Amino acid sequence: MAEPLLAIEDLAVEFRTEDGLVRAVDRVSYEVHPGEVVGLVGESGSGKSVTAMSVLGLIRQPGRIAGGSIRFRGRDLRTASEREMRAVRGGEIGMIFQDPMTALNPVMTVGAQIVEALRLHQRRMSGAAARKRAVELLSLVGVPNPDTRFGQYPHEYSGGMRQRAMIAMAIANDPVLIIADEPTTALDVTIQAQVLRLLRTAQREAGSATILITHDLGVIAELADRVVVMYAGRVVEHGDVHTIFSAPRHPYTVGLMGSLPNLAEQGAPLRPIPGSPPSLLDPPGGCPFHPRCTLSQGRQRCRVERPTLIAVGAAHASACHFHDELAGVAPGVPVPGAGATDPAGGTEAEALR
Ligand SMILES: Nc1ncnc2c1ncn2[C@@H]1O[C@H](COP(=O)(O)OP(=O)(O)O)[C@@H](O)[C@H]1O
Ligand code: SF4
Ligand SMILES: [Mg+2]
Repeated sequence: MAEPLLAIEDLAVEFRTEDGLVRAVDRVSYEVHPGEVVGLVGESGSGKSVTAMSVLGLIRQPGRIAGGSIRFRGRDLRTASEREMRAVRGGEIGMIFQDPMTALNPVMTVGAQIVEALRLHQRRMSGAAARKRAVELLSLVGVPNPDTRFGQYPHEYSGGMRQRAMIAMAIANDPVLIIADEPTTALDVTIQAQVLRLLRTAQREAGSATILITHDLGVIAELADRVVVMYAGRVVEHGDVHTIFSAPRHPYTVGLMGSLPNLAEQGAPLRPIPGSPPSLLDPPGGCPFHPRCTLSQGRQRCRVERPTLIAVGAAHASACHFHDELAGVAPGVPVPGAGATDPAGGTEAEALR
């Protein structure tokens, strides 16, 4: 396979809190290849955002990267200077966050912010050229009347329009990687679908690889090529999107599907995972999922031995001692338009409907 664009290896991130040391990310490894969409999924608190913040060099006190490496285009971002990281953020790596209101500057017009993003990373671009490009970008992401909208403030935009503006800003400098952290979580369901389709169009147009972070497997099914499932700061399963949905080999992944309304509607009963994620101050020994696991049935090995990720198929790995007991136990639910192979094509025009 070609050289990965991003290779995270054995990443460990901890936070020093009043109650003790929180291991938010525990020896996480995954790769992102040029142009692909990697979905990072797991319940809230599983370490998805902290992983992304690490790549962007945004882990601040009381947190620190305690180990591992983050190689991006051949260089280790852990040793990059703050100046280099400022060039990476918003330049080579575009960012989209859950809440555009905190990412956009409330006292600057949307257009001025896109112009600023462009000129920060493309020093030779004239003001006039940047303005023209900003209007083009707003039009590309489906903001109507982009000339007028250029001069408006974020609070004059609706939630969905603000998220479009943030996507415009994220792709402004033709990033090779986009990190989208819960990009649709704050939006109405109908707007969510539109913004997801737009994100796919923008990503394909720019040819950017994408790390798509979400707690929602439905979003993963729509957009991801590959899936990395996280639980309690660790990767518990990874594989391509079709394999993950048709032949999952970790009970946590199966559990996430059981709590997915879209898929459950089509026949399977809705079964949320019992219990809640563990405290990362003092996670359970052995397999961290064992107190909630219906496959384990209290087996001793689950309580004492930490499972490591092992290959269970081509480019498919699971961190479950008893993964083979899930072989052939497909959750039996179809995947709605899973992944990148969307026969309908998902054109820009459709994305804006
Ligand atoms: N600033 C912080 N201080 C202390 N702990 C933190 C901080 N940020 C994150 N954490 C810890 O890291 C865990 C993972 O957080 P996060 O990556 O935001 O989860 P996710 O994005 O998967 O919902 C949290 O459950 C929390 O314990
Ligand atoms: S190792 Fe045991 S507790 Fe962990 S997921 Fe597998 S069966 Fe469940
Ligand atoms: Mg998060």
